[in-house]
Amino acid sequence: MDELFDTYNAMKDFLSFDDSDAARLKALAPVFAKHGAAITNAFYDQLGAMPSTAKIIDGRVEALKRTHIAWMGQLFDGEYGRPFFDRQFKIGDVHVTNNINPEYVEGVTTTLRLGGRAAIIEEMGNTNEALQHFDSLVKVLDLALMTINLAYQEERLSRISAFTGMSRKLLENLVKRGGKKK
Ligand code: HEM
Repeated sequence: MDELFDTYNAMKDFLSFDDSDAARLKALAPVFAKHGAAITNAFYDQLGAMPSTAKIIDGRVEALKRTHIAWMGQLFDGEYGRPFFDRQFKIGDVHVTNNINPEYVEGVTTTLRLGGRAAIIEEMGNTNEALQHFDSLVKVLDLALMTINLAYQEERLSRISAFTGMSRKLLENLVKRGGKKK
């Protein structure tokens, strides 16, 4: 897990996610406190519109909305260290163990980017400052998504390892070599 946290930190550097992003995200907390419910409704409307995702959320949309709003609130608390990583990784785990295809998770993130952009512009106007805040939002959503995807990769390798009896190390080496035996 420490190795994965190192990967998370490397991705943070790669995205140039820094203290000014953290400060802007914290400043966005009231915007999302106000618009979070509408964005969450759009998120579940999107999942409800496609039969393959609608059947997964059927009957539990109200409960899912509550956990989703809580998750969204944490994006704006200004802390992006180990607890943030652990939380996103656990969310990845929950989705992979529920056999939810990762492309659905990636696809529905668009509603968060677009809904977030509209909310920021509504509250801050169509200004450079609003654009800078939107950039920080995109970065934190991408960081969350990358971490969720790390959980998918881990779980998939573990499942193949358990099924085939091949060690994790051997499987990881195979992936790195592009499937070539030598
Ligand atoms: C960026 C995308 C997504 C985010 C941020 C997100 C967020 C969350 C969160 C915070 C939870 C609660 C996790 C916990 O119990 O600790 C959750 C659970 C769940 N999500 Fe998502 N979700 C996303 C995408 C999806 C998609 C695409 C689907 C279905 C097609 C989905 C279906 C579910 C289901 C069924 C659960 C409940 C799992 C359980 O309790 O066993 N989610 N999600």
